[in-house]
Amino acid sequence: MLAVDGGTPVRTTPFPKRALFGDQERAAAMALFDHAVESGNPIGYNGAEETAYEQEFASWHGGGMADLVNSGTSALYVALGGLELAPAGEVVIPPITDPGGVMPVALHNLVPVPADAAPGTFNAGVDQIADVITPHTRAIVVAHIAGEPADMDPILELAASRDLPVVEDCAQAHGARYHGKLVGTMGVVAAYSTMSGKHHATGPQGGVVYTQDEDLGWRCRRFSDRGKPFGLEGRSNVRAGLNLNGNDLAATVGRVQLAKLESIIAGRRRVAARIARGLADCDGLDIGHEPEGAESVYWFLRIAVAEGAFSLSKVEIAAAVSAEGIPVNPTYRHLPAEAEWFRERKVFPPSDYPWGLPDYAGDRDAVYPCDNAVTAVESHFILSIHESWSDADVDDAVAALRKVADAYRA
Ligand SMILES: Cc1ncc(COP(=O)(O)O)c(C=O)c1O
Repeated sequence: MLAVDGGTPVRTTPFPKRALFGDQERAAAMALFDHAVESGNPIGYNGAEETAYEQEFASWHGGGMADLVNSGTSALYVALGGLELAPAGEVVIPPITDPGGVMPVALHNLVPVPADAAPGTFNAGVDQIADVITPHTRAIVVAHIAGEPADMDPILELAASRDLPVVEDCAQAHGARYHGKLVGTMGVVAAYSTMSGKHHATGPQGGVVYTQDEDLGWRCRRFSDRGKPFGLEGRSNVRAGLNLNGNDLAATVGRVQLAKLESIIAGRRRVAARIARGLADCDGLDIGHEPEGAESVYWFLRIAVAEGAFSLSKVEIAAAVSAEGIPVNPTYRHLPAEAEWFRERKVFPPSDYPWGLPDYAGDRDAVYPCDNAVTAVESHFILSIHESWSDADVDDAVAALRKVADAYRA
């Protein structure tokens, strides 16, 4: 009997914790504190640890420049700031993303324009991006949601043909690959979140801006620290900016974490592959469709519920799986255009800037329904997997999914 109907749940014990931080991170942080106590010097920023971390982060991508900042939101803000996009234009944004993947656009006085998802996915598709490009478009932000790379080749081709920079939002996708290329290396600049819920963390909050364009890297670095003239000789602060710096304590944690990233990714792939195998002959449930050439890292796992396959709704199915003791979210509904700040244009209140900027020549009343994205979020629920799941944990999750699917199959 299903647990929702009073039966025994498949799983009665908690799933394992991620245990992301361990003795090594503690030792690294303590060593910094020990040094600070012994020397009398404070723990700072842009010191040896941060420099080493940034070099290691860049090397992990095969070279380039990295700048540790204080959040993924800041990383995107800095990446866009480094590009020096003229205000009162438009930036294409993902159809489904965290607010931190969109608000930086508006805070640069640029109008965020959502492109719809490629059918069946949570990521923007090339046709959908092409649909919203206008003469006012200044850049395209592409997010790799859930650790699944967007279908980048056609997007990059489109962007090149329109001379538009692509900014990759890799907050959920550290180490994902597309046709062998690491995410973050395909656009002109990438923004990472390194807060403690992500694959790779520099502490409770953090982020990294990464680029292979040295000039852009220096511009980002200056903009993330009040326009200090990094890389320029004998000049004063060259541009207005906030203090969005990372610091040596975050960096020292990040260095330990970076060494663990490959095994974290391997763990996530192991879990996702075993779930995919477990659901292979389970009619009606499937892990989400991924583009050809994608090597995902699964920040979460989308479970697709086929239309008409069950007698209950997707939300009810998710609730039944959850009742079996499995960590499930009924939905990942983060459509920027549905949020209050976006709908009510509250970026620089009481004005309606950037939409209301006198210089904005685009369509102020345009709406972006993103039907594919709505269909995607309404037909998937979320399995909150992570690398610490054992095969037995995965098998419980599969057993619960199959039990619920068998009970409700139409
Ligand atoms: C796709 C995406 N972009 C940006 C962010 C913002 O990152 P942060 O929370 O580190 O500011 C997140 C956070 O989860 C995200 O998932």
